[in-house]
Amino acid sequence: MTKSTVRFLLNNDVVTIENIDPNLMVLQYLREIQFKSGSKEGCASGDCGACTVVIAELDRDNANQLHYKSINSCITFVGSLHGKQLITVEDLKDGANLHHAQQTLVDNHGSQCGFCTPGFVMSSFALHKHNQTPNRAEVLEALAGNLCRCTGYRSIIDAAITSSTSSEEDSFAKHYQETVAKLTEFQKLTAPTLNGNGNNFISPKNINELAYELINEPTSTLVAGGTDLALSITQNLANIDKLIYVGNVEELTTLKETDTEIVIGSALPYSKFIDTLHHYYPDLGDMIERIGSKQVRNTGTLGGNVGNASPIGDMPPALIALGATMTLHVNGVERTILVEDYFVDYKKTVLKPSEFILSIQIPKPTVGQTLKVYKISKRIDDDISAVLVAIFIEQNASQEITNIRMAYGGMAAIPKRAPAAEAVLKGNRLTKESIAQAKTALATDFQPMSDVRASDKYRMTVAQNLIEKCYLEMQSQKIATRVVNYA
Ligand SMILES: Cc1cc2nc3c(=O)[nH]c(=O)nc-3n(C[C@H](O)[C@H](O)[C@H](O)COP(=O)(O)OP(=O)(O)OC[C@H]3O[C@@H](n4cnc5c(N)ncnc54)[C@H](O)[C@@H]3O)c2cc1C
Ligand code: FES
Ligand code: FES
Repeated sequence: MTKSTVRFLLNNDVVTIENIDPNLMVLQYLREIQFKSGSKEGCASGDCGACTVVIAELDRDNANQLHYKSINSCITFVGSLHGKQLITVEDLKDGANLHHAQQTLVDNHGSQCGFCTPGFVMSSFALHKHNQTPNRAEVLEALAGNLCRCTGYRSIIDAAITSSTSSEEDSFAKHYQETVAKLTEFQKLTAPTLNGNGNNFISPKNINELAYELINEPTSTLVAGGTDLALSITQNLANIDKLIYVGNVEELTTLKETDTEIVIGSALPYSKFIDTLHHYYPDLGDMIERIGSKQVRNTGTLGGNVGNASPIGDMPPALIALGATMTLHVNGVERTILVEDYFVDYKKTVLKPSEFILSIQIPKPTVGQTLKVYKISKRIDDDISAVLVAIFIEQNASQEITNIRMAYGGMAAIPKRAPAAEAVLKGNRLTKESIAQAKTALATDFQPMSDVRASDKYRMTVAQNLIEKCYLEMQSQKIATRVVNYA
């Protein structure tokens, strides 16, 4: 395989990088190598949004179109920029004129100390590029990953609302076709690599190249969005010597539907499949909107969420409850297993050396089936779960439960079903009595632990009460049970 250099556009300039440590994050690259210090470092863990930049990339389905998204540069590996345009706050201005994402903040008095301001500007810019007629909820969603400690959010939100509807043409719109042409050229390069500080990075383009790299270098670490892996570098100061970026592998970044299944490529970011899942499973779609922030969902992937095997990952319980399967690939050989069977013990999975997750298959709903998903965290947005439960129920015409899967996160070392509680409800109707029995049975299914997020007692109580919440919601849709009902 012919190797090439990593090439991207930094605003409108072509940049080639080759002898740079691939453990470097985009934020460090901007501040320390390009001396562009407009993007700030607040947390280096994806939580504050001060480092937000915007990525423009060619649309998969229409190569003449650019797709703009906000990302956290502090947790984005520099090699993943290949083939994309990186837009930073310094270059939004057109000549002497501020961009409307900046000017509206000035006009609305949306900045005091200014530390958060570049991040808000970039989130607002990304929103405008993506949606010029957002409703208030969409504006809030776009800004939820940015924290401000002094100004207060009203003026910032007002600024973003005004900016999003602006019809002013910015410099990026003027260079649109030129940008498309350059990115198309970069995409033709094979296997971009980075080598620096004794560490290596490669970005295969298809499944064969990926399988080949993993056979040759079985100790390599895969990186998709990096929203989990990057923290091992920025927080734990780890060094990763062999990185394989899967975000450009064609077969891993597709979304397909068959008559019976939704097939999600393991390296497809949440923001690319959330609408599809929302359509079939509204509760699941609502929950995904609460995974991290817009910046995290624009890069984080399903393969990374399942692949990191965290007991508090939000997707595995939902996938287990739905009876989803996953396809694993090693050196041309594929096997498909239940997601439920993937997890063995804390952070241990059935993945073999050189094997990777290719895709995840979610069955489409049929008549009589319901999926309820409840995420319990201290904040609504951008927070990790203390407990998450997904309850899948199938009922016959007499309302008897013919099939049930209740899967919990945060209650054990791995995401896990609740066999005793399920056994109580299977073959029964949902009644106050059967629900009370299921709650009692749940206490035999789990022995949760105490940590900074919640005590063992709290976890068990909330886990039991969520079964009752599911029951109440299934009795009547009119009962206001969600926080959003009161917002
Ligand atoms: C601010 C913030 C908020 C977050 N909030 C949430 C939240 O609310 N809920 C939640 O569940 N998570 C949350 N996360 C964690 C993380 O964003 C998710 O788990 C995300 O889905 C990880 O995907 P990724 O592509 O970024 O993974 P990466 O960091 O790229 O990879 C994670 C792990 O998976 C492995 N991996 C990646 N792709 C594959 C593959 N194809 N095959 C095998 N292994 C693979 C990698 O080697 C690595 O070990 C948050 C993270 C941050 C920084
Ligand atoms: S520095 Fe806080 S999200 Fe990047
Ligand atoms: S203006 Fe100071 S943090 Fe927002």
